[in-house]
This record gives sequence, structure tokens and C-alpha cells, in this order.
Amino acid sequence: MRRVGIFLVLIICTVPLGRAAYDLSKVDLGKIPIASKNKVDFARDIYPIFKEKCISCHGPEKQKGDYRIDTKDGAFKAGDNGFNIIPGHSDRTPIVLMVAGQIEEMLMPPPKKDPLTDEEIGLVRAWVDQGAVWPDGPIPEYVKKIEFVRDVRPIFEKSCTECHGVVKQAGGFRLDRKEDAMKGGTTYGVVIKPKNVAGSSLLLIAAGKDEDIAEPEKHKLAEKQVELLRRWIEQGAEWN
Ligand code: HEC
Ligand code: HEC
Repeated sequence: MRRVGIFLVLIICTVPLGRAAYDLSKVDLGKIPIASKNKVDFARDIYPIFKEKCISCHGPEKQKGDYRIDTKDGAFKAGDNGFNIIPGHSDRTPIVLMVAGQIEEMLMPPPKKDPLTDEEIGLVRAWVDQGAVWPDGPIPEYVKKIEFVRDVRPIFEKSCTECHGVVKQAGGFRLDRKEDAMKGGTTYGVVIKPKNVAGSSLLLIAAGKDEDIAEPEKHKLAEKQVELLRRWIEQGAEWN
């Protein structure tokens, strides 16, 4: 009798359950960025991340894996692998585990696409832990505030100050200090005009659209970075 019992258990365990949930046995919670401590606001903190990093594949146009995350119904609907958002449990929520690369072959966004930053993962985690609140009705648009120190300075430091900084000031232009940067260079004059996107030739130079600039390939930034600089200038080009 006992043997039959064990036999039955074996059969039941090997019969496919129809709904194969993800294998969470290899999840290493220590490798997932910690949840943000702040109170998360869906429209301000979370939806912009989905919009920027998920919706091209999980939105109105494409629903990869038969999943969409631009609508509440879509985001909370169960797929072949069960629910993708489990309110209150970031440690078991597939979208959190996926963005942190903790579900095999399911890194989201997929490899080579712009991954979520630790800060963004921390926000999504906190959102789920705080109940995954997604208010009904239209989602208010939030314009992400560009922070100079976090967003802009690293671009200048990585791509510009080598020639426009302490050691060299090509064209009499330096980008490591506000006063000099806002004054501009000898040929172009002022290239950053706060709130004046059209008048800020820095954007043309960085977009590779200024035909007269020296060493154009040294001046061309990625489209995303130019867009960030554009929004920084639009928002007032502050240096703090
Ligand atoms: C470039 C396209 C692309 C982007 C961007 C992308 N995904 Fe995916 N996603 C896929 C593909 C393809 C699949 C199906 C993979 C499979 O089933 O093997 C998938 C599957 C999924 C699934 C599983 C759906 C189900 O129920 O089986 C979830 C959840 C998911 N993605 C979440 C996200 C989230 C969250 C983001 C943004 C942080 C994101 N994805 C960004 C392409 C993308
Ligand atoms: C490898 C060196 C190098 C790098 C890196 C570089 N530049 Fe330049 N830049 C130059 C040179 C050379 C000139 C032309 C100087 C001249 O005309 O004498 C120039 C000119 C300029 C000017 C015009 C200054 C003027 O009025 O004459 C601006 C604005 C400028 N660069 C911005 C940038 C920005 C923004 C970046 C980063 C995205 C950058 N540069 C990266 C070498 C560089």
C-alpha cells in the first residue's frame, strides 16, 4: 500500500500541470537591488519606466509573450506562467525577477536592450511590495526631472572633458565648470541656452548635425544621451 502511495505521488508530480510557473529555485534574492524605502507613486515612479523600457514590446503595437504592460488589465492578467505581478511579494513577482536577470533566459528587457538601473529595479520592487497599486483611469503624465549630477555630468565627464576640461580647452571651451560652460567657446560663443532648445547649438554638435565642428566623431553622442541633454536644457540647464 505504501509503495502504491509513493508511486502515485511520483505520477502526479511528473504530470505536466498545464501551467508551468517559472523555476524560482535558483533565484538569489541577494542579487536583486534592494527595494526603495520611499513611498512609490505609480504614475510618477513606475509607469515612466514601463513606458521607456517595456512598452515597445509589451504595448499597443506588440505583445511579446502575449503580455502587455501599458494597461492595468494586461499587466495583471495571468499568462502561461501564471501571474506576472504578485502584489506584496517582490521576491516572487516575475517582472521583478526578470528585470533583475533572475529567471533563466527571461532577462527583461532582453539582452542588448537598455536594462533597468538598480534604482529603477528598487522602485519596481518597492511598488510591488507596497501593494502594486495601479489607480484606475487615465495615468497622469509625469515629466522626468533631469538631475545634473546624476544624469548630465557623467556624459560630459565620459565624452567631453578630456578635451574641454582642466587639461585641454579645445576651442576655448570647457565643460567641467558651470561658469565656463555657460560662457561658451571662441568660435561658437554660447552653446547652452537654458530653456531654449532650438538656440542651443551644443545639441546639434552632440547629435552629429553640425558639419563644421572639428573631429565630428568625437562629438557625436548616442541618441538617448542627446535626448537627455535636450530635456536638461528644456528644463533650465541647471548645474545642481
Ligand atoms: C525588445 C523587446 C522586449 C522588451 C523591451 C521587453 N520585453 Fe518582455 N518579452 C519579450 C519577449 C520576446 C518575450 C517572450 C519571451 C519568451 O517567452 O521566451 C517577453 C516576455 C515577457 C514576460 C512573460 C510574459 C508571460 O506571461 O509569459 C514578461 C512578464 C515580460 N516580458 C516583462 C517585461 C518587462 C517588465 C519589460 C520592461 C522592463 C519587458 N518585458 C521588456 C520582449 C521584450
Ligand atoms: C578628442 C577631443 C574632443 C572631445 C572628446 C570633444 N571635443 Fe569638442 N572640440 C574639440 C576640438 C578640437 C574643437 C575645435 C576647437 C577649435 O576650433 O579650435 C572642439 C570644439 C567644440 C565646441 C566649439 C567651441 C568653440 O566655440 O570653438 C563645442 C561647443 C564642443 N567642442 C563641445 C563638445 C562636447 C559637448 C563634447 C562632448 C560630447 C566634446 N566637445 C567632445 C575636441 C573635442
